[in-house]
Amino acid sequence: MITQHDKVALITGANRGIGKEIARQLCQRGYAVFVAVRDIHKGRETVEELCDQGYEAIYLELDVTDPVSIRQACGTFSQKADHLDVLVNNAAILEDQGQDITTLNTEMLERTMKTNVFGPVLVIQDFLEQLKKSTIGARIINVSSEAGSITDMETFAPAYSISKAALNATTKQFAGALRKHNIAVNAVDPGQTQTDMGGTNAPRSVEEGAETVVWLATEADLNESGKFWRDKQETVW
Ligand SMILES: NC(=O)c1ccc[n+]([C@@H]2O[C@H](COP(=O)([O-])OP(=O)(O)OC[C@H]3O[C@@H](n4cnc5c(N)ncnc54)[C@H](OP(=O)(O)O)[C@@H]3O)[C@@H](O)[C@H]2O)c1
Repeated sequence: MITQHDKVALITGANRGIGKEIARQLCQRGYAVFVAVRDIHKGRETVEELCDQGYEAIYLELDVTDPVSIRQACGTFSQKADHLDVLVNNAAILEDQGQDITTLNTEMLERTMKTNVFGPVLVIQDFLEQLKKSTIGARIINVSSEAGSITDMETFAPAYSISKAALNATTKQFAGALRKHNIAVNAVDPGQTQTDMGGTNAPRSVEEGAETVVWLATEADLNESGKFWRDKQETVW
């Protein structure tokens, strides 16, 4: 059983890309990391890789689009740990690059909202009791995007951009609601990063993409809440 002596983190979509790197960096900093992944094979592979490096990583089956899966993951988590210090909502999809809002298939919009917005809302709601049991002050980090910044928004990937703007609003709502519980809630733009989503020509490595999330999860002042961050600086909504 993982107890109050341990620092505990959970990352959704942690089997590849930025999520996997966040998991590695948090393991490196001594966290017991729950690798929350929808595919059992990919999840076990990632956990094995981290454990082989001497880290404490635990597989948790979790599909963010499935409320039953989230509830079951929470039940499994509770059998293995008695609190949660850091929750990173990282899992997301980007399927509408090159699409136009005037002709956008609303099924795609629905799918994107379900993964990128409703998923994080349900994950936070279900894991809230565990976050409240943190004795060091819990932190929730929602991995957003520059695409979700309304200030600069134009026509890029409408479903994805709308979903990330909604995730930013979700961040503000939870930050307000959870302030009295000493739980910090922030959104991060990791920048264009070399992953399956970002592509091989993206300027940032996964180490750089994960950096601000890990900083908010471990070092940033707990009073910093309800903000949108990029490169450890507040950025425009
Ligand atoms: N890369 C960039 O340039 C960039 C820029 C700005 C923001 N971001 C944000 O950074 C985060 C990570 O992006 P990335 O580039 O690492 O993306 P990625 O390489 O495409 O990885 C996405 C991850 O999300 C998981 N996922 C998708 N749907 C899921 C579901 N229903 N349930 C559970 N997991 C699910 C995927 O799992 P499977 O392997 O099972 O598909 C995968 O592990 C995302 O929130 C993204 O929007 C990325």
